[in-house]
Amino acid sequence: MTDFNEKVDTLIASIRQVYGDDFIPLHRPVFEGHERQYLVDCIDSNFVSSVGKEIVQFENMVCDFTGAAHAVATVNGTAALHAALICAGVTRGDEVLSQALTFIATCNAISYAGGKPVFIDVDKDTMGMSPTALRSWLEANTRQENGFCVNKKTGAIIRACVPMHTFGLVLRIQDIADICEAFNITLVEDAAESLGSWDGDTHTGRFGAMATLSFNGNKVITTGGGGMILTEDEALAKKLKHITTTAKVPHPTEFVHDQIGYNYRMPNLNAVLGVAQMQTLPSMMSIKSEIAAFYKELGTQQGWHVVQPREGTTSNNWLIAICLDSPQQRQDFLIRTNAAGVMTRPIWRLMNELDMFSDCQHDGLEVSKWLEQRIVNVSSGVPDARLKDVKVSV
Ligand SMILES: Cc1ncc(COP(=O)(O)O)c(C=O)c1O
Repeated sequence: MTDFNEKVDTLIASIRQVYGDDFIPLHRPVFEGHERQYLVDCIDSNFVSSVGKEIVQFENMVCDFTGAAHAVATVNGTAALHAALICAGVTRGDEVLSQALTFIATCNAISYAGGKPVFIDVDKDTMGMSPTALRSWLEANTRQENGFCVNKKTGAIIRACVPMHTFGLVLRIQDIADICEAFNITLVEDAAESLGSWDGDTHTGRFGAMATLSFNGNKVITTGGGGMILTEDEALAKKLKHITTTAKVPHPTEFVHDQIGYNYRMPNLNAVLGVAQMQTLPSMMSIKSEIAAFYKELGTQQGWHVVQPREGTTSNNWLIAICLDSPQQRQDFLIRTNAAGVMTRPIWRLMNELDMFSDCQHDGLEVSKWLEQRIVNVSSGVPDARLKDVKVSV
């Protein structure tokens, strides 16, 4: 056996001490609060669909938690991004800056809105968009025209910028916000993975015009499927609510719709799960920070490079990431851990390497490529033995 395989086996044994002997998923949902009761109550109420008081209650709870002024719940995080980009004014022919190192949904949503992604490199420590790379791409490739940022080569308007807080790690978002403002670009944060992550005292998702969350089954809290758009702007919030609810104009008797809208409203059946999950989120956060501390300690003891949050930020520790030394190590690591029933997975393939986005512009992406070849995620959920510590606290 190679030294590296022995090292992996030692890690597997340590993970098993915390997570037990069965198959260990990467991050499974936890329903230890009032989820079952609220679901039954919701069914009994008949308000299972896109109208119901728990949708508003869930939105208010997320506002209270994040400090955002307004929230609009949607069917999923991709729909949230799509609606946010429409409200950012993205239309066919526009370009939208984003990361090559992200989950496919970011780029899918840009495409739904008619935009074409332009990929900017990430920082090595945060794995999120690099302000240095963003500024240097904009300086070299754009000009200002009538208050718009225009791509010198294609003539397209660069309408929006969508950075993403990878695995809950907080990117240099204030710097990105400053650059977007200077270049007249609307900032939409993809905060799908960062509910519970803070830059200083400010929750992620509060730095741009809008931000989006995901409540997919693998996230820190889940509504089965679901998403949300956060904004500080009341007019934008109204517009978001309008286009995500089929653009229906209130009328006492008639069906009146004033534009092409979307059926993107979160069903109440999902929202009741959200209410219950928000009640247990603080205790989930503290258990997850203990898991993060466990991996940090293992990193020191066994020589793993466990990626740590940038100074001054707090991560929700959604998925713990380990940076391996080489592409070969990454391959060996993934095969050995998954064969042992300890689920691990690689970071995403770069978006510009996928057929659909292979013709998109990008900068050198040196850091994105380097990370793509080395980053893996390890079991990061709440262990069975800690389920008893998940408490309803709100
Ligand atoms: C970075 C990122 N953006 C967007 C999404 C889309 O969210 P959803 O799966 O709820 O559509 C996800 C999660 O799945 C994500 O990880």
